[in-house]
Amino acid sequence: MQERIQKLIAQAGLASRRKAEDWIARGQVLVNDRVAELGDRADLEVDRVLVNGIALRPPEEQVAVMLNKPRGYLCSLRDPQGRRLVTELVSDLPQRLFPVGRLDYNTEGLLLLTNNGQLAQQLSHPRHHVEKTYLVKARGRLTEQARQQLSRGVMLKDGMTAPAKISKVRIREKTSWFELTIHEGRNRQVRRMCEAVGLSVSRLKRVRLGFLTLGELASGQYRLLTPAEVNRLKSL
Ligand code: URA
Repeated sequence: MQERIQKLIAQAGLASRRKAEDWIARGQVLVNDRVAELGDRADLEVDRVLVNGIALRPPEEQVAVMLNKPRGYLCSLRDPQGRRLVTELVSDLPQRLFPVGRLDYNTEGLLLLTNNGQLAQQLSHPRHHVEKTYLVKARGRLTEQARQQLSRGVMLKDGMTAPAKISKVRIREKTSWFELTIHEGRNRQVRRMCEAVGLSVSRLKRVRLGFLTLGELASGQYRLLTPAEVNRLKSL
């Protein structure tokens, strides 16, 4: 579809529309090897637009996926130590995706990845208070006292946490399984909260993020979010 050239430049993130208009007026933009004029339109699927010598590429389709992250993958775009990256698990998609927030290297479960910067920023903003539920396996017994402490909030070195919701508790001889729901996203928060009440986490899996649940998605697999799910995430 043809669009005004200043709009295409702004969509590519090179400059504001106003600045792009300046570049056009100064003759710094070429369309199919001819100097563009203000008001010209172009279609990046067919026209070649050069801005200060740089070619504009057609905008990527925006996608968001839900991945069931396995243990032993890093939520980062690169790693000097050469560890495996979550982005490798979605590398068959043509878009270059980046993780929304983080799960620790050894945490499993629901992770969103997207190329939609606005969506990623919105979901990561603390103001949004998106609830996250984690399935926790801990060494030792979740005592009534520990449960109450977690439910009231725990003092960590970076301050008091908000109260957590504890549910689906199953206590075995040497281990406890339970679900813990929080809406904050501090570094290693669940592990640190558990440690603070005397529990050492041996397995941690995020099973819910807002209205999204992992469902039957196998470890290492991903699925595209539907447009309805993306719209619902935007309105969280
Ligand atoms: N809390 C943790 O401790 N680790 C995670 O990966 C996520 C939440």
